[in-house]
Amino acid sequence: MSDFLELCKQRQSCRGFSEQPVEHDTLARCVEAGRLAHSACNAQPWSFVVVENPEVVAQIAQCGQPLHQNAWLGSTKAFIIILEEHAVLSPVISCFLDSQYFAKGDLGAATAYVCLEAAAQGLGSCIIGVYDRKKICELLNIPVEKQFGALIALGHPLNTTIRSKKRKAFEDIVRFV
Ligand SMILES: Cc1cc2nc3c(=O)[nH]c(=O)nc-3n(C[C@H](O)[C@H](O)[C@H](O)COP(=O)(O)O)c2cc1C
Repeated sequence: MSDFLELCKQRQSCRGFSEQPVEHDTLARCVEAGRLAHSACNAQPWSFVVVENPEVVAQIAQCGQPLHQNAWLGSTKAFIIILEEHAVLSPVISCFLDSQYFAKGDLGAATAYVCLEAAAQGLGSCIIGVYDRKKICELLNIPVEKQFGALIALGHPLNTTIRSKKRKAFEDIVRFV
């Protein structure tokens, strides 16, 4: 897809995946897109865990339903977890700001890149907001103090219809000066 805005319109949260497995190389491409994201001082305060083993995927899916929401997660074929890592900022900037000051924004950018590449590959994705982080850390041998930038569920969408976006009106949120 050469039209980036069109890709932005096509990317949508997918809440139901088909039985079709997701290729290892496709997942690697999604992570590669995240790796290429911009970050403050190019600190790249992230690392990625790709979960593709079906048994482990099923266990992570359980961790994504602590409030019994997101029941559809059971159909997920892979997860990408973006972990927050220590950011080394330039000395001038780190005099003023905590090293992790920009990290959340940087992780957001990497998350968006992963999801957009997934959409470009015809995959569905959904970022999961509420999950049992400690249990996931246990299952994946991640240090328990590690913060997550994102937990992203992936698979081939069951429903490929592109919904119209519900967004605030352009004129309500944009001001040209
Ligand atoms: C940080 C974050 C957490 C989210 N958590 C969930 C979630 O737990 N379950 C879910 O179905 N969607 C979740 N979403 C998806 C949002 O609901 C979705 O992005 C928003 O409604 C806009 O719709 P769209 O992604 O289809 O354009 C999450 C999105 C973000 C960015």
